[in-house]
Formats: sequence, C-alpha cells, structure tokens
Amino acid sequence: MTYAYHILSRNEHHRASSLDIDINDEFKALLYAELMGESLQKSLDNATLAKLQCFASDHAQNIFVLRNVPLSFGLLETPSTEDIAFSHISRNVLFTLGLFSIIGKQGFAYEQENNARLVRHVTPKHGSLLKGTSHGSYHLGWHSEHPVFSIPGTEEVSRNDSPYAPEIIALTGVYNYEDIPTLIIETKALLDKAQAEHGSWLINALQKNHYDVPPGASLSNVEVRRSCPLLSISNEGHFKLRYSDAIVGTSDQARKALSALRQTLREEEDKLKIVVNLQHCDLLLFKNNTTLHKRSDFDANFATGMSRWLMRIFASNPKLI
Ligand SMILES: [Fe+2]
Repeated sequence: MTYAYHILSRNEHHRASSLDIDINDEFKALLYAELMGESLQKSLDNATLAKLQCFASDHAQNIFVLRNVPLSFGLLETPSTEDIAFSHISRNVLFTLGLFSIIGKQGFAYEQENNARLVRHVTPKHGSLLKGTSHGSYHLGWHSEHPVFSIPGTEEVSRNDSPYAPEIIALTGVYNYEDIPTLIIETKALLDKAQAEHGSWLINALQKNHYDVPPGASLSNVEVRRSCPLLSISNEGHFKLRYSDAIVGTSDQARKALSALRQTLREEEDKLKIVVNLQHCDLLLFKNNTTLHKRSDFDANFATGMSRWLMRIFASNPKLI
C-alpha cells in the first residue's frame, strides 16, 4: 500500500479548528509548530495519527491525503497578482506545521526561492502563465523538487552554499474547479519498469556523477551544479531520484541512460501515475525524491476570481535545514 487516504471526522475538524493561535507571520508560526503538534495529538483521533505515522515511517508509503482539514477563511479570491495576508491562512499553516512536528519534520523556506517565504501560493499569476514554474498554467513535466540541491537521507553531503532538497511537500487545496490533478509516480515503480525494459546497466549508470543539473526556474542566484548522479541510495538502502526535463548527461553512457529512463517515463506513465485531484480542504503530503510529480497545462479561470489555488509548504528533518 503506497497511497493512504483519510478523512478527518467532523469532531476532529472542529477540535483542530478551535486551536487558533493569533499569529500574523510565518516566522512566529514556525515557533509555534511544536506546540501545535502537541495540541493536534490531543485533537486528532488515533486512526488519523496512526495513518500519519505510517506515512512517515514506512519507506514504501509515499503519499498521504487528508480530507476536511481546517482552512482559516471562506471564499477569498485566488491571489493572482500578490500574496495574501498571513492572518487569512494562519489556521491551515499551523495545522500543516503541527502535522510535520508530529512526524519529526519542520517546515522551511529557501532563501533563493519564493522570496524566502514559507508558504508558496501555487496559483496562475498574470505575467507568469507561460513560465515553467508553479505560477504558470503551462504544462509542468515530471520532476522532483529542487534537483539541483543534495538529496537528503543519502550519502550526498550538502555543500555549504547549497541546501538539501525538501524531504516532504505539503499541498493544501483551496480551489481546483479546473479539476487539474497533481500526478505522482513512485521512484521505485519507475526504476523497476526501467530496469525490466532496459537492463540493470541503467541503474548503475544513473548512480554515476555524470549529469548536469541546472537550477529550476523558481530559483534565483543558484549556481549550476555539475557532475552529480540522478540516483542515490538512502541510508536505509532505498533509491532516491532527482529528475527534471532540464537535466542532461555529460557522457555517452549518461545520455543513453537518461534517454532510456525518459522512454520508460513516456511509455509507462499512464500505468504508473497516481492521480491526486486536490479539492477544497484537501491536504496532500508526499515524499520528494522517492516520487516524481507533474501537472498538465490548463486554462486559468481568472474571471471567476477562484482559479486553481494550492498552498505549498516544504518540510525536512530539522537537522537538514
Ligand atoms: Fe513541483
């Protein structure tokens, strides 16, 4: 079982909603995350907590969807030109940070991305529609988050000037009337298929330092990282993958391996993909590097004021932040 799905009961939702702490900025929310986690442990039912812990501790479980999570507001307009006041989103941010705290993770932001803000509003924005970032409405191909950074939980050591990629990505659905799902493929399923189709040489080739990984479009002032592997073995002995369409091989073998992996992705994605169509009050947690994700293009519906809006927060082990 790789995909856990759970609906918060009405009582849990009510108890979690009543845990409001009056906080008006992201930094303070991070300070209160542990306290929020303790409160949520008392507010959530055992079944919910058990599924959350299972997601955190079982290496084969990469995806956890929780429905009926508390949001702070009623019908706000999707922020298509600028971010909204933190007070509007504080309840959900604290809820998400509290869940992270329960599983020993901490929310964080990168200095080089999203103006160093904790919460990224994944919305189509005027002026960014054709960009390959979460602010566009253009097709976003299969990728892991921030492949240019070191993969956490592996032998890769982060350089001083380069952080680790996030371990977990949280997405809360605010609106998704366009019905555009988040598509996820598990690394293990992809590699098993690729190995069966092309042979074990491919797995070896993906572990060599012969790939050029550029920074993603959402990063600013990040140097190109050269000569890193796509595949690293985690401390527990499982594969972790970095991937984006922009990565290129720097040797004949690397180019051949990348081409083989991309062929498997193209040919098998319909069978391998897990479709998560987040709607209002849905929270998706998924692991980076043991999954890839993507989103198709869509027509941003600005006229309604409620175009697709997800709130994203990254989390990792506090030691890696
Ligand atoms: Fe992404």
